[in-house]
Amino acid sequence: MSLSPTEQAIPLSGVHFDGREEELVLEVLRSGRLSLGPMIDRFERLFAERVGAVRAAAVSSGTAGLHLAVRTAGIGPGDEVITSPFSFVASANCFLYEGATPVFADIDPDTLNLDPAAVEAAVTSRTKAIVAVDIFGYPCELDELYAICDRHGLALIEDACEALGAEYKGRPIGSDGHLAVFAFYPNKQMTTGEGGMVVTKSAAEWNVLKSLSNQGRADSGGWLEHARFGYNYRLSDVAAALGVAQLEKLDVLLAGRNEAADRYARLLADVEGADPLLANDADHTRSWFVYPVRLADGVDRERLIADLGSQGIATSRYLPSIHLQEYMRGRFGFGEGLCPVSEHASRTLLSLPFWTDITPGEQERVVEALAAALG
Ligand SMILES: Cc1ncc(COP(=O)(O)O)c(C=O)c1O
Repeated sequence: MSLSPTEQAIPLSGVHFDGREEELVLEVLRSGRLSLGPMIDRFERLFAERVGAVRAAAVSSGTAGLHLAVRTAGIGPGDEVITSPFSFVASANCFLYEGATPVFADIDPDTLNLDPAAVEAAVTSRTKAIVAVDIFGYPCELDELYAICDRHGLALIEDACEALGAEYKGRPIGSDGHLAVFAFYPNKQMTTGEGGMVVTKSAAEWNVLKSLSNQGRADSGGWLEHARFGYNYRLSDVAAALGVAQLEKLDVLLAGRNEAADRYARLLADVEGADPLLANDADHTRSWFVYPVRLADGVDRERLIADLGSQGIATSRYLPSIHLQEYMRGRFGFGEGLCPVSEHASRTLLSLPFWTDITPGEQERVVEALAAALG
């Protein structure tokens, strides 16, 4: 690929650091407390405060957090778990690890989150839980899902890995008290490199989460005493230092992403064949994670990807439907037609380059290239 000197490649995502990350990482290095140290407690306290949660448990990834949430909710072999097919695979893998059976309910075509009516229709006597996802940072229909859980005695686990900073009916995601999981991979709203956080209002659940993430050790026991069958899902204090530095400026990170999303929406207003996602309403405030556009039916997405790629502009087919992944088809016999709304979204969405510091010039270049490719 040869680009002119003014046409630098535009990646799909990027991170925003300033001197604070280095300062806090150095503080950890100089303290010698690289694991199970005070920076973890600081990160957990600050995070809980920020999302309005009672307690937060830091873990090594969003996937690890989801797995521990599933363990904490007591999900196991023979249980069915209803979840969204339009998500990253970890939101289903987390209960496959425990031998539970996935039941995919289709999504709402506008929100791209679980359609509560489809969830209700999927409940059986074996259903144990719902893993609801806030896809692309758009809050899922929590109140309707609570009602379903109440009616049928189900647990609700929220995969909020893409939704730090989002709000549902004015309540920050993470503040309602059920188990909810966030993630900090570098393309997320804030990053610790790898990392995640589980929030809960329950002190008992928090104790179990902390124990499970630390090889099943109990507070009262010694280093080689294990009260439970656990894992090493600990986050290091070095990563927690990044987390504290990022949380301190989360408002700046979110504002930059909002601004970039607004700019894309303005630029795309004149482009036929590529529409922005659903806008906020009184009940839903999105926290911008990635920036997918909906391509009109019949648009050749592969040609667009190749065309933009030849100009150094990265794009992504975000997201394939989970039930159609090879291992899912092979193990459970899922096929096309199971969740048509999700499958349509998987065929027609295209993610554009998006991060806190993407410049207006970069966004203009992306949209000009997209418009030309569509035209
Ligand atoms: C919806 C969703 N769930 C789970 C995860 C897993 O998080 P991690 O990559 O930190 O394990 C992600 C991260 O990409 C995600 O987007």
